[in-house]
Amino acid sequence: MTNPFSYGGVVGNGEFCNRAQELADLKDLISSAGRCFVYAERRMGKSSLILRVLGELPKKQFLPVYIDLWPTDGTLAFATAIARATTAAAETKTTRLLELGKQLFGRLRPSVSLDEMGQPTVEFGVEGRTASKSELSEVLAAPQILAEKTGKIVVMVFDEFQQIAGYEDGLAERQIRSSIQHHHRVAYIFLGSRKHLLQSMFLDESRPLYRSAMHYPIGSIKTKHWLPFIAQRFRDANKAIDKQLIEQLCEQTQGHPFYTQHLCHVLWSMVGPCGAADAAMLKAAVSELLRRESHAYVILWESLTKNEQRFLRGLADSDSSRKPFSADFTRRYGLRAASNAQRAAESLVAGDIIEREESSYVIIDRFLRLWIRGLLL
Ligand SMILES: Nc1ncnc2c1ncn2[C@@H]1O[C@H](COP(=O)(O)OP(=O)(O)OP(=O)(O)O)[C@@H](O)[C@H]1O
Ligand SMILES: [Mg+2]
Repeated sequence: MTNPFSYGGVVGNGEFCNRAQELADLKDLISSAGRCFVYAERRMGKSSLILRVLGELPKKQFLPVYIDLWPTDGTLAFATAIARATTAAAETKTTRLLELGKQLFGRLRPSVSLDEMGQPTVEFGVEGRTASKSELSEVLAAPQILAEKTGKIVVMVFDEFQQIAGYEDGLAERQIRSSIQHHHRVAYIFLGSRKHLLQSMFLDESRPLYRSAMHYPIGSIKTKHWLPFIAQRFRDANKAIDKQLIEQLCEQTQGHPFYTQHLCHVLWSMVGPCGAADAAMLKAAVSELLRRESHAYVILWESLTKNEQRFLRGLADSDSSRKPFSADFTRRYGLRAASNAQRAAESLVAGDIIEREESSYVIIDRFLRLWIRGLLL
């Protein structure tokens, strides 16, 4: 039997745990052609969630367009990624594909060719230079035209949206707001994982996208939802795991989907046929995972300043519910002054090692957190 816990890519049917509230909220937002900025830490399940939302939308009423901006490095790549995804979502027949490409994206000089699978795809004869303002405007106008043409709500999803902050000319960031503000039949969802980059894009008054979309943060999955999900997968394989052990496991991963699935994957593989998982196995599973990562963690750890290391120790220490800038915290972890803690926190945030959460911070990599806890012992 194959391992029922998968980690890494997008998870679909049968591998997807809960998110009922998020699914409902996002569908509501889409139905009213809203704009939303969905933010979550790395590997929290953004892409899986949004693809599930898109998959559940009735095809008669909605036309979803999913654009992964990860591989894009500039405005032209941004424009062609949108054009390619939009034509592919709207049309599958070769002849009509070209017609639509020309209609919506004429300036990008579309042509149609067959890919390795024999599927027709649109190509654009404009690679290798930068995009002009008029080319970008044409691309950004397309969703509303398509919505009017089809009578459907077009749903534009931009995954890894923080990429646009790195485009040299800044044209896309400047243009999006004015282009989309009158699109009444188009929902826009911007997904991203680098909180500080995204927040400055949407919350800094001097930036073009300031307050242009509602915020929707995605957090961990609660233990009460993991309990039936994990128990069922053990049961299906004739393996046992009790409630308490699942709770312990979720405490270790803080319910973060990727780390929870990864740890479950290793634990499940340790339990033999008709066997039962126990605390010793959970401990061994964690050790195994930390052993695999330890080389990278040592290198990371050695690259940090002493105060950054102290700050991380404080955050990793599970007994600590202390505020990270309190006198109690700085004394206990040897930081001496709140200003030292502040500086350490800032550089760890900038390095994507920790992230602000409510009144404190979380260590993004939940296994790193466990590894640091190991240092404390
Ligand atoms: N609803 C879920 N139920 C169970 N596991 C999930 C769920 N969502 C995410 N996961 C786990 O997290 C992993 C990462 O999911 P996904 O790629 O959707 O996250 P992401 O936030 O888009 O990540 P990235 O930051 O790398 O783009 C999945 O491979 C899976 O192991
Ligand atoms: Mg993703």
